[in-house]
Amino acid sequence: MTKERRILVYGAAGGIGSAICRLLHAQGVRLHLVGRTESKLASLAQEVDATYTVGDVTDAALFAKVAQEVGETLDGLVYAVGTITIRSLPRLTAADFLNDFRVNALGAALAVQAALPALKKSAGVASVVLFSSVAASQGFTNHASIGMAKGAVSALTLALAAELAPKVRVNAIAPSLTRTPLGENLLGSEQMAASIAALHALQRLGEAQDIAALAAFLLSPQADWISGQIIGVDGGRSTLRTKG
Ligand SMILES: NC(=O)c1ccc[n+]([C@@H]2O[C@H](COP(=O)([O-])OP(=O)(O)OC[C@H]3O[C@@H](n4cnc5c(N)ncnc54)[C@H](OP(=O)(O)O)[C@@H]3O)[C@@H](O)[C@H]2O)c1
Repeated sequence: MTKERRILVYGAAGGIGSAICRLLHAQGVRLHLVGRTESKLASLAQEVDATYTVGDVTDAALFAKVAQEVGETLDGLVYAVGTITIRSLPRLTAADFLNDFRVNALGAALAVQAALPALKKSAGVASVVLFSSVAASQGFTNHASIGMAKGAVSALTLALAAELAPKVRVNAIAPSLTRTPLGENLLGSEQMAASIAALHALQRLGEAQDIAALAAFLLSPQADWISGQIIGVDGGRSTLRTKG
């Protein structure tokens, strides 16, 4: 593999995306950023010395544009774009379900599809990191739409990991509630944050750095024998019960 890895990050200016970009930049990775708000992308691009493309993942034309701008070779792709639609079934519309599916799942599939020729040109084994959620493996009330969309991401991870092996590895991270602009939407007050934190065996909410650390590992050659995994970074929420 060439010394300088090249990695494409969708949702780069988000809480988790930007933490991943900062970590990868510190490791000497060349980054190409994608997001929908130019001002956020431009300032992050300057900080991490990256190129970038502005666009919305619900616009199918974005992916070909990114493929053109990213260059011929890629060693990794991160799709850290997402929604949190927490609403009871009677309050969910067909448009809510479709939007969650498009932003979380279809966007991920189209991002990988468009980047595939460049990923296949990696000198090593290229790595894709997608984002599922604890809500794809645990049933939570008011999570019908986002749970369904993230369940699709988990299944996509497995299907692509099989189809793209051995040249490209595909894994997903499944966080529980993490303090980012997206996660903060669910935290009305510090009291609410403390009560949700207490549902986790490790007694706190996630931080973007908790998630970024695993993403950076999965993108590195140290993870070259890991593919088709959906890994919880969730304070124990998906597997542990410490009370009752
Ligand atoms: N935070 C959590 O509690 C949590 C839990 C489970 C799973 N996850 C998943 O982790 C991933 C990263 O989430 P995060 O917490 O870092 O969220 P975030 O801070 O809101 O970042 C998401 C990024 O995606 C961008 N984005 C959203 N919709 C887009 C669209 N239609 N087109 C292009 N870009 C779009 C946002 O752009 P703007 O900045 O312009 O809005 C933002 O930069 C997501 O897949 C999320 O579902 C997060």
